[in-house]
Amino acid sequence: MFDTMTLTKVTGAICGSLLVYLFGAWAAESLYSTAPASHGGEEVAQAYTIDTGDAGATDEAAAEGPSFEELYAAADAAAGEKVFGKCKACHKIDGADGTGPHLNGVVGRNHAASAGFGYSDPMKALAAEVWTPEALDHFLTNPKAAIPGTKMSFAGLPKAEDRANLIAYLATLK
Ligand code: HEC
Repeated sequence: MFDTMTLTKVTGAICGSLLVYLFGAWAAESLYSTAPASHGGEEVAQAYTIDTGDAGATDEAAAEGPSFEELYAAADAAAGEKVFGKCKACHKIDGADGTGPHLNGVVGRNHAASAGFGYSDPMKALAAEVWTPEALDHFLTNPKAAIPGTKMSFAGLPKAEDRANLIAYLATLK
């Protein structure tokens, strides 16, 4: 009964199904594998990472340097007076309005609060809001981005330190 031919057929059948099984397992694994695959020691990046918000926040803080609070706490009003040279063409600090509204007393004053100055509509719309040091910092970084439609034609102060020093100077003007 067990002649050579039968033995060969049985062995062939077993080897054949083993091959199909191995191939199937390999195919399934490469299709559905969830383990971080590494090929020849090379790390393969994950398809996507769920953003929890935390990582980004710390990265941002690290990239942007000290916070406004820290800079403002250490601000130098005398250095800020020099930065104010960039504003003088339009802003006075003696209570009179020019191209722009007077800026003495602006820290802690409401937006668009210089009576008689012709503010833009977007600025008037913010009349209920106070010019806190933080709000000034935001506005002066890029006025047109902070308040779209503002009449203030000024590109902004890109240096955080300049803004902190300038706001500290403005805060000394009553
Ligand atoms: C080219 C003229 C010009 C320059 C330069 C300029 N501003 Fe202005 N600024 C304006 C005008 C005009 C307004 C009124 C904006 C509006 O109504 O939208 C204004 C508004 C403001 C306000 C809002 C005041 C309020 O009463 O609500 C602040 C604060 C201010 N400017 C600060 C500054 C500072 C600080 C600088 C210098 C870094 C500066 N500006 C440079 C023209 C100027």
